[in-house]
Amino acid sequence: MVKICCIGAGYVGGPTMAVIALKCPSIEVVVVDISVNRINAWNSDQLPIYEPGLDDVVKQCRGKNLFFSTDVEKHVYEADIIFVSVNTPTKTRGLGAGKAADLTYWESAARMIADVSKSDKIVVEKSTVPVKTAEAIEKILTHNSKGINFSILSNPEFLAEGTAIQDLFKPDRVLIGGRETPTAQKAVQALKQVYAQWVPEDRIITSNLWSAELSKLAANAFLAQRISSVNAISALCEATGADVTEVAYSVGKDSRIGPKFLNASVGFGGSCFQKDILNLVYICECNGLPEVANYWKQVIKINDYQKNRFVNRIVSSMFNTVSGKKIAVLGFAFKKDTGDTRETPAIDVCKGLLGDKAKISIYDPQVTEDQIQRDLALNKFDWDHPVHLQPLSPTAAKQVSVTWDAYEAAKDAHGVCILTEWDEFKKLDYQSIYENMQKPAFIFDGRNVIDPEKLRKIGFIVYSIGKPLDAWLKDMPAVA
Ligand code: NAI
Repeated sequence: MVKICCIGAGYVGGPTMAVIALKCPSIEVVVVDISVNRINAWNSDQLPIYEPGLDDVVKQCRGKNLFFSTDVEKHVYEADIIFVSVNTPTKTRGLGAGKAADLTYWESAARMIADVSKSDKIVVEKSTVPVKTAEAIEKILTHNSKGINFSILSNPEFLAEGTAIQDLFKPDRVLIGGRETPTAQKAVQALKQVYAQWVPEDRIITSNLWSAELSKLAANAFLAQRISSVNAISALCEATGADVTEVAYSVGKDSRIGPKFLNASVGFGGSCFQKDILNLVYICECNGLPEVANYWKQVIKINDYQKNRFVNRIVSSMFNTVSGKKIAVLGFAFKKDTGDTRETPAIDVCKGLLGDKAKISIYDPQVTEDQIQRDLALNKFDWDHPVHLQPLSPTAAKQVSVTWDAYEAAKDAHGVCILTEWDEFKKLDYQSIYENMQKPAFIFDGRNVIDPEKLRKIGFIVYSIGKPLDAWLKDMPAVA
């Protein structure tokens, strides 16, 4: 029986390995992590992450050929194939701080693999890493190898949170990169055999190591660039009376462009886009390509601009101050169908409103109060470095409340902001929300989930990203 061990039981390691176990009953899969809490949760009825369809897959295989353990060394020692799916956050200190990927977790995993291994291993980069990381990992492994043969492969993960199980069942492509040597090519074939159990052969791409590493960074940069492009157009729509939904529809009908990822919004979030683009920017700078670095940096700048623009729109339309006013925030996760709040635009929007002394009342169907309070207390980039955790200042903490109901959040509020596109926000009883709010009642839709005309008929003053503005908003000072 082939044995697989995956180091890192997070958003990628957990779902990916559960699907491999489901599709390959003859392979034993063990997911290991240094976090005892995370492993305990994977072994319980309350999985550590919310992902549609995940519960079902885990229940079918756990205890049969899928295991979760904190005994990292034992399972690495026993494995034939080791996936490394640890976090690769942005560095907060030292050389490349604020841009470069922090490979501390990766390096310590590689050193541990070198220490405990007594037989040949295939080591698979599953985490998103800077191009050329495999070279560094190879050096760590071979310099400590005691004659053991390590083959390093790059197999970046393209799943999206919220649709992870669907994406893993039917991936657009699986990418496997390896060196040209016969041993490495044998390893590529061995990994290909695993995926071939359920992925059609023509969707399994093989490439050289550096192409595989760079493809993942490039794919995320292209995806984020589409969002920033449509968001940039949304600002122009508001200024001219065009409607971004109509513009995006017409643009996306061009088969060379395509319709996906063209929804204007308050901005992209999630643990990957910003970190991976910053990393790409840093790699360009290190390779003497400042123009290329600046080109990609602009994708992030537009994203920050879009979040600021949203906050400014709220404040300026509410008579230039939100001090002491209650603002209901509907949705805190970075997208629907996940409880993940890493780099969510809601953090920046809430911090912007708190900075103007608003009182905010937050509701999200999947995010706990504890998580929200922690997110609002963290500095930029610190979320993946737990040592930097600081408590929310007592004044700020008083300004934030978290509810388990959208109606409760909106009760007596001056304004409502929608920051995540949860389906349930489309179906709320906005008439009753309106009746229980202060007047004039404002709604700021950061995800274009509500029908602005319907809500205007109820009596709301509505702001929807990239849509023609209410007369009220046009009369307010320009937003920069
Ligand atoms: P995560 O933070 O949810 O999971 C990483 C896990 O690794 C944590 O539970 C941590 O305790 C564990 N870990 C760290 N060092 C360890 C060590 N030495 N030994 C054992 N366990 C260790 O991160 P996530 O979201 O799963 O991402 C992992 C990688 O996959 C990152 O490089 C990310 O960029 C990439 N990725 C993430 C996607 C996503 O949607 N979240 C999608 C595609 C790639």
